[in-house]
Amino acid sequence: MSKKTKLGILASGSGTNLQAIIDACESGEVFAEVVLVVSNVSDAYALERAKKHGIKSIFIDKNNFESREDYDKELISILRDNQVNLVVLAGYMLLVGPELVRAFEGKIMNIHPSLLPSFPGTHGVKDALNYGVKISGVTVHFVDKGLDTGPIILQEAVPVMENDTIEILHNRIHEAEHRIYPAAIKVFAEGRLKIEGRRVRILEKGEL
Ligand code: GAR
Repeated sequence: MSKKTKLGILASGSGTNLQAIIDACESGEVFAEVVLVVSNVSDAYALERAKKHGIKSIFIDKNNFESREDYDKELISILRDNQVNLVVLAGYMLLVGPELVRAFEGKIMNIHPSLLPSFPGTHGVKDALNYGVKISGVTVHFVDKGLDTGPIILQEAVPVMENDTIEILHNRIHEAEHRIYPAAIKVFAEGRLKIEGRRVRILEKGEL
């Protein structure tokens, strides 16, 4: 029997996506385990969620480092020390530096609350709502050096309703996120993702 994929989650906020991933791993739906949660925010609720599940949680204070490069070097060494196979950004609100991207090439995923390439950046939900789109959604993608530009793994459309506020729309988007993030990690853990240029193929089990 092959080994479980070890996930290192980076999160800055409440961590509802982290929770969905932990639950999917614990239920056996996803053949992976969260071995580590790292946050750049000391009181991020994501760290509490990790503790509740007996998962190692680490706060790294950006202010203790002279540069972003040094911060990312520390992150890389923590991820390596914990033998992380896949780095999962779950509401991680810092840009991932080039060294980290290089160190874990094809092994970093991000979730973004819009249908990329529309509305990248830190305010995806608000930007889509203000633009007036009738359909927004969620994107899970591999991380490259750009801002939300990496090859797309899964997307799910989410309708925008007449009376939506940012909060109401974000809640609907969260529901989709909690479905597709575990689903994307599941196919990664099964070794079924193949990056071909900009396209990510999801191999059938028979193709492996
Ligand atoms: C999620 O909606 C995620 O898509 C978004 O932050 C939220 C985190 O929620 N990420 C970004 O906007 C990244 N640019 P969570 O802490 O409850 O998982």
